[in-house]
Amino acid sequence: MKSILIIDDDPLIRKTLSTHLSKEGYDIYLAETGNEGINAYEDRSPDLVILDIRLPDIDGLETMQRIKEKSHGATVIIITAYDDMKTTVEAIKLGAFEYLVKPLDFVDLELTIDKAFQMKSLEEKLSYLVAEKEKEYTIDNIVGRSPQMRNVFKMIGSVAITRTNILIQGESGTGKELVAKAIHFNSPFSKEPFIVINCSAISDTLLESELFGHVKGAFTDAVTETKGKFEIAGKGTLFLDEIGDMSKNLQSKLMRVIETRDFMKVGGEKILKTEARIIAASNKKLKVLVDKGLFREDLYYRLKVVEIELPPLRERKEDIPDLVVYLLEKINLEIRKNVRKVPPQVMKLLTNLPWKGNVRELENALTRAVILAKGDVILQENLPIERGERDLLPKELIPLKNVERSYIQHVLSATKGNKTQTSQILKISRPTLDKKIREYKLNL
Ligand SMILES: Nc1ncnc2c1ncn2[C@@H]1O[C@H](COP(=O)(O)OP(=O)(O)OP(=O)(O)O)[C@@H](O)[C@H]1O
Ligand SMILES: [Mg+2]
Repeated sequence: MKSILIIDDDPLIRKTLSTHLSKEGYDIYLAETGNEGINAYEDRSPDLVILDIRLPDIDGLETMQRIKEKSHGATVIIITAYDDMKTTVEAIKLGAFEYLVKPLDFVDLELTIDKAFQMKSLEEKLSYLVAEKEKEYTIDNIVGRSPQMRNVFKMIGSVAITRTNILIQGESGTGKELVAKAIHFNSPFSKEPFIVINCSAISDTLLESELFGHVKGAFTDAVTETKGKFEIAGKGTLFLDEIGDMSKNLQSKLMRVIETRDFMKVGGEKILKTEARIIAASNKKLKVLVDKGLFREDLYYRLKVVEIELPPLRERKEDIPDLVVYLLEKINLEIRKNVRKVPPQVMKLLTNLPWKGNVRELENALTRAVILAKGDVILQENLPIERGERDLLPKELIPLKNVERSYIQHVLSATKGNKTQTSQILKISRPTLDKKIREYKLNL
């Protein structure tokens, strides 16, 4: 319920206002003097203040100032018998939301109160957005302290100021686009566009016109002339994602642009120049595609003037705890929750899962766990481990041979010590089973 503090020395006004506004569903606090009002504001933190100008101790304007010193965002509606310009101007200048003259019109007052609350919620949303934006830029958004990632950071630093073509390779979800952006935003051309184009998502014809633009009538759907990404990118960056999926035909066209720096729109005759830097990315190893004859070797060498290889997450497990903390912060901001606690055993589990989809998969798993969380803790049961698999997992993280030992014992007990059956179920030979029974000192 919203609350309103009424500061007025006139008992009649206090009474009528409080009766009326509590009927409207507000919680009402009352004060008779400026100082009393300031104290009440501090004690109660009301959502809104209705304030008289003439008060027995300090006047309304000073009272408002003092309240605003305590809480910058306080919303104050002034009600007064003075309707002179000077006081009005002064009140508004000092940040009063509205200035109503007595005798009060209740309809007017209600409308003003509604407006004030709408404004307040808008302001709250805005300040939230501002805080979020600031965060986006202040947080170092590539997380990692592993030697491999430190190397990547060094590479970003050294290539950012150059204009060379860069090839970023790595499994899906390892952060290729993130690295490309970091290079762009650390370059002297960071104010120029960063343009992403996915070479696998669209048809060959469409991709060609996306890259180079087309003139009117170049093909059936070309009703107007368009600019291609090479032109739009200006001196910025053109990020060619999934370059491995580009057709041989387009590969030759791209090769030409890289060599000559000029190109023509589809169906056009005018030669255009491009100054964009090209960063290409691929989750398939381009070298392998080259060896299979699917990717032009000359283009490969042109693109990989500098090569950045992003390691899979499972090869840099030490980065996972930092990533978990960072991603949780990001996710909570995005979906406006506050699930930031990760029990040690859950963190251990997160660190040891294989994460075939790398950071993206980790991010998705955490998002799901945050959404499903009832309190503020990430729970193991909300992590996407196959149910059957999870049920087999011991509660604690223990050495592999302990798991093997207790599982063999489990099957032996279930078969009442029948070694033939046990070895069949476990799909191991009898001699191997015998060896393990001796080694683990199992009971038959
Ligand atoms: N080191 C990192 N620190 C923080 N966030 C990361 C890191 N690596 C990846 N991410 C996040 O993981 C997600 C996937 O990253 P990105 O899109 O850059 O991967 P990708 O390699 O381009 O994947 P794909 O091959 O699937 O396109 C993004 O939300 C990104 O912000
Ligand atoms: Mg990508």
